Amino acid sequence: MMNKKIKDIIAKKNKSKIVSLTAYSKNIAQIIDKYVDMTLVGDSVASVLYNYNTTRKISLDTMIEHAKSVRMGVHNSLMVFDMPYNTYKDKKNALINAKKIIKKTKSDAVKLEGGSKIKDIVKHLIKNKIPVLGHLGIMPQSVRGKFKSKGKTDSERTKILKDAKVLEKLGVFAIVLECIEKSLAKKITNEVKVPTIGIGSSVYCDGQILVTDDLIGLTNSKIKFVKKYINISGNIATAVKKFKQEVKLKKYPTKKYSY
Ligand code: KIV
Repeated sequence: MMNKKIKDIIAKKNKSKIVSLTAYSKNIAQIIDKYVDMTLVGDSVASVLYNYNTTRKISLDTMIEHAKSVRMGVHNSLMVFDMPYNTYKDKKNALINAKKIIKKTKSDAVKLEGGSKIKDIVKHLIKNKIPVLGHLGIMPQSVRGKFKSKGKTDSERTKILKDAKVLEKLGVFAIVLECIEKSLAKKITNEVKVPTIGIGSSVYCDGQILVTDDLIGLTNSKIKFVKKYINISGNIATAVKKFKQEVKLKKYPTKKYSY
């Protein structure tokens, strides 16, 4: 039987937009969980928290620790674990790792980057009752060098559309479309039955996802599609400056904060 939260996400197609964000810790997860349909423990943690220049460098065990923390804050949304590089090399390897992820983190689903190339792996996971979220367009685990948006050439467009249809047929419950040109994102969204969740892929997708740390201004991201809704770094700096001042002036701790 399909997880109710996954059913709900699929049912939103053509009805209401799907809202999704990343989380790497309980503290952020418990704030966003009330507002999002899906919380992704993204391998973007590699660059956001560990300063790696590629998501390829984050290990499965490190991500599992982050996901365990996230799990404590997620009660409403669907929790998806982004399988890191080299953890789905073949069917057997993917299933062993996906089972480990689900057992240790109680994630509801996993995300894998790729289309036709990984079709046997996706098929095997789904056959073994592991719900899969697809990911097409820019696939950071495969990028060497600069990120370039996708869907500018006819051959690229044909390939991405074909991959989306392959994933749909295999039974993924939704597909993340990263940095795909808007008319192609629209075409994919119209032609596949499962929801598309865009990141830098226009308003035509069935939902949107962003890295929370970018959206709240904890990172210094200059990526075109990132909209900063708040500059939380500024708020933290204000609080820390005040604390520093009060410590220096012996205004903190007052009686109220002492035993
Ligand atoms: O790793 C990640 O955070 C992602 C995104 C889709 C935001 O894959």
